[in-house]
Amino acid sequence: MLRRPRRLRASSAIRDLVRETVLNINDLIYPIFVVEGENIKEEIPSLPEVYHFSLDKLEDEIKELNELGIQHVILFGIPDEKDPFGKEAYNDEGIVQKAIRKIKEIDPNMCVTTDVCMCQYTSHGHCGILTEKGYVDNDETLGYLTKIAVSHAKAGADMVAPSDMMDGRIQAMREGLDAAGFETVAIMSYSVKYASSFYGPFRDAAGSAPSFGDRKTYQMDPANSNEALIEAELDVLEGADMLMVKPALSYLDVIRRVKDNFDLPLVAYNVSGEYSMLKLAVKEGLLSEDAIYEAVMSIKRAGADIIITYFAKDIAKKIRG
Ligand code: PBG
Repeated sequence: MLRRPRRLRASSAIRDLVRETVLNINDLIYPIFVVEGENIKEEIPSLPEVYHFSLDKLEDEIKELNELGIQHVILFGIPDEKDPFGKEAYNDEGIVQKAIRKIKEIDPNMCVTTDVCMCQYTSHGHCGILTEKGYVDNDETLGYLTKIAVSHAKAGADMVAPSDMMDGRIQAMREGLDAAGFETVAIMSYSVKYASSFYGPFRDAAGSAPSFGDRKTYQMDPANSNEALIEAELDVLEGADMLMVKPALSYLDVIRRVKDNFDLPLVAYNVSGEYSMLKLAVKEGLLSEDAIYEAVMSIKRAGADIIITYFAKDIAKKIRG
């Protein structure tokens, strides 16, 4: 036998030498859920070890992330009030806007990305403005999304991440941000976002499940992969700074296709359902903790440069040993 691949697996040192994919702490973005009120740090039932934080409780969390070397967060707000137009989403005194300022006060170096969407803020739970017939009105929604993005930028967000899946939103937002003087605020586009059942735990955490129907008229059909390239291309043309595929673990093939076709940094969102499934399996002793690193690493191996994951702390602890 001339070729024996097992030679390069013979010792831990050789395996370390030839390893192709390594997760870095800087690849990771940690999601944070903020709520109105005081003295709240409550574990989210659908997301073990992930919490709802009131602003006064953010300091310890940000310090913990700092100690772990995590310098990126993505913020999700849960407002007290909802209405058909999601007004709280673009209120300069809204929960996310206040949270951005608070985090920057605690740690000016923490890189803050915000989720730009309306579903947590609308009374009907859809990601945009509804027509009388209950269809999400694409073009009407663009102005609202732009207002939200500008309001987040005003509060000090480093990046805005639109997750609504309306057509033309990246261009609308880019123009709005630039007109308001925020040409340095980057857009991380949820370019390829599927109408996935793996968002269930998030919707419980954020109170954002649609009150009727589903999101299939704007989020993508899980069966489609060519369409991912169309969405990614439009975002590139419209001025996105980063592309995203979401979810991650059931869409590794899509991550690879987008990576092979576009040069912008590629983000993958390891979503709530993927997290809770694995976390519970580890907690129950069905899987060893190593399964967590393996799963998140596979997202990077598939082609993601950056990973949004509720596992960020687990991974950081593992990397730091
Ligand atoms: C808002 C939004 C969702 C997620 C991120 N932003 C939910 C949805 O589209 O229904 C899901 C994240 C996760 O499941 O972890 N539109």
